Amino acid sequence: MSTSRLHDADIVDALDTCVTVDHAELPNGLTHVPPTGAEDGNSNHATQGGLLRGLHKCIQKHRDYVKIPVPDPKTDRLPLEWWKTGVAFIYATFNLVLTTVVITVVHERVPDKETSPPLPDKFFDYIDRVPWAFTVTEINGMVLVGLWFVQWLFLKYRAIAGRRFFFLMGTLYLYRCITMYITTLPVPGKHMTCAPKLYGDSQAKVHRILQLISGGGLSMASSDLMCGDFLYSGHTVMLTLTYLFIKEYSPRSFWWYHLLCWLLSIVGVVCILVAHDHYSVDVVVAYFITSRLFCWYHTMANVQELKTSPHNYLKNTWWSPVFNFFERNVQAPVPCTFCWPIPWPPSCLKNSCRRDALTNRAEVFSDRPDIPIITILTKRRGIVCAPYGTVWRQQRKFCHTALRNFRLSKLSAESCVKELWFVKSELWKLSREGCNVDLTPLISNAVFQRHLLRLLRTPLQPPGPGVPHQAGPHVQGEIRKVETDISSFLRAIIAQHSSTLDPDNPKDLIDLYLVEAARQQERVGGQQTSFSEDYLFYVISDLFVAGTDTTTNTVLWALLYMCTYPQVQEKVQAEIDSVVGSDREPSLEDKASLPFTEATIMEVQRMTAVVPLAIPHMASETTEFRGYTIPKGTVIIPNLWSVHRDPTVWKDPDTFNPCRFLNENGQMLRRECFIPFGIGRRVCMGEQLARMELFLILSGLMQAFTFTLPADQPPPPMHGRFGLTLAPCPYTVRVVPRRARPC
Ligand code: HEM
Repeated sequence: MSTSRLHDADIVDALDTCVTVDHAELPNGLTHVPPTGAEDGNSNHATQGGLLRGLHKCIQKHRDYVKIPVPDPKTDRLPLEWWKTGVAFIYATFNLVLTTVVITVVHERVPDKETSPPLPDKFFDYIDRVPWAFTVTEINGMVLVGLWFVQWLFLKYRAIAGRRFFFLMGTLYLYRCITMYITTLPVPGKHMTCAPKLYGDSQAKVHRILQLISGGGLSMASSDLMCGDFLYSGHTVMLTLTYLFIKEYSPRSFWWYHLLCWLLSIVGVVCILVAHDHYSVDVVVAYFITSRLFCWYHTMANVQELKTSPHNYLKNTWWSPVFNFFERNVQAPVPCTFCWPIPWPPSCLKNSCRRDALTNRAEVFSDRPDIPIITILTKRRGIVCAPYGTVWRQQRKFCHTALRNFRLSKLSAESCVKELWFVKSELWKLSREGCNVDLTPLISNAVFQRHLLRLLRTPLQPPGPGVPHQAGPHVQGEIRKVETDISSFLRAIIAQHSSTLDPDNPKDLIDLYLVEAARQQERVGGQQTSFSEDYLFYVISDLFVAGTDTTTNTVLWALLYMCTYPQVQEKVQAEIDSVVGSDREPSLEDKASLPFTEATIMEVQRMTAVVPLAIPHMASETTEFRGYTIPKGTVIIPNLWSVHRDPTVWKDPDTFNPCRFLNENGQMLRRECFIPFGIGRRVCMGEQLARMELFLILSGLMQAFTFTLPADQPPPPMHGRFGLTLAPCPYTVRVVPRRARPC
């Protein structure tokens, strides 16, 4: 296994790298692939500063972390080169046609079965002939070819797999032409009634060749039986070759599929013998040559060192130059990746590395690593840190549905208005005092309160009048109390919900969960189920942890950007004024009519990526990915920040420009690489909720106030502080009300 350590100087590169893993095996014995150069732009580096420092500290602590240098996309290690596939197809077609010609020629030479009786064959001595067995062979063969064709169509690297198939098939049929031509055996059974000989009738022979080609070489499809192709069996070749390709180019975990295809193949081959249609030696030779050729070719193709090794005797084969021609540019084993065969939906073809791993290979890359401190805290229960599997799926599905539930959404929207009312009235008061305002306590309080309400329907004491903005002592004190003893607080709340539960009238997420837990208990009848009060505790904690900081920091970032880009703030306000007016609050129904506001929120999320490195994933099994062997247990850190700043995807990625999310008609534009909530099966569970909250909070604040940076203070740096989430550096603002009353 060869690795390269992540040194300080490599950190910038690491940020551009799609995955950072704790151990990995580079293919082909390569020890180091030179890192791709990071962009030189100073602004880019400055913006990365905070992130880098955080990452640097983390890496200092975990020196065994290594970097997998993802190859420069410009040097594609698996070029498709369809034209070569075309050449291989012509080669295979030529040899198939040649085979029919040789069969027709050899057929004329087959000795009469009366004068030259079948040769002795041990298999035939023991097994009586079954007349329909050969039909089974041909049906199995057709099923296998069909399966391989469908599988091949969906393969991402079908150009490479296709040309390998065509080349091997062509070569095997070429060999067949030679063996048939040089050795003509008598028919293997007296039952065989060969088609009449044509002697010098060339026209009839051409007709016969065309007939053979149109029938695909199948006995079922042709009225005449051609004799003479007894060294070696073409049916065995196809049954073996298709099975080997199916197995090689499908996921290792599809054992049932491999078993099915193996059974089809083996039954087909045995039926050739049971039908007494070929000598046993035909079948054995065909199997041997096919399987050896397949193995030699794939060994040479997959083990890169062999391409240059002087000790590679496989290079002495006659087809080595052809192999070099086909495989010269293929520098890694072909991974088993699937995609739509036609470019629909169009996004399928534009997968980035992260999308490739987290969505196309979701089965493998959706686990969470077992990090000791996290395991001690969470026991790997809940949703965020739970291992990928049935329990996680059940819990996530339930919570997702519950959060989307109409009554909870309504409650959520109602609570938003209430909390926003409090924030706005506080800001209004502070604006009249004319002081610089730190928004953090107000916003985090509002978001925290909303989550309490939504999940537990248990608001903290409503804040009294005149809560000082700097500390918000009453509410802040309550929150701190809850934070220090969140565990007993939540357990007490759960116990209280449990004792007062009215199953017909669940009031909040906890009630819904308890009803579900009772239903599950009833269903499994005393057996263990993952729905329990204990598990509920971890689920609720997760929703708090995952939802509060992220939403708060996004709002804080958005307000900072509004201060920094006053012209954007004005535009947002103008849009809200024209669509909503000033007599009512913006509501969710207005969302679709406020595209610029939406685009501004998205652009803030793109620029800031509050969860820049998502939550670590883990490979649940050893897998091939883009030519690398990723061992089971490898930790994968999806770098969302780099996706949002990728200059190949975004024009001027370091420039704040909401219009990049709008088309020329000012309508919302879906951008595939906008992924602040992650992608794949582990995508943020609260995405819809967070989007809703962000819209309501920010549109409400923009409608009521104008935010500016204090003239007497330097503007805060825009790189942020990297902790669990990426928070803005502390800043204060001046707040100017846009109307006479707070709300
Ligand atoms: C602006 C706000 C938010 C952002 C930017 C955000 C972002 C993210 C990201 C990047 C992940 C990790 C995805 C991955 O592992 O690949 C995540 C996971 C998660 N988020 Fe959020 N999130 C936000 C708000 C919320 C809210 C409001 C909730 C719930 C009420 C929530 C619940 C979760 C949960 C449960 C997970 C773990 C999903 C799983 O492992 O299956 N998030 N979030």
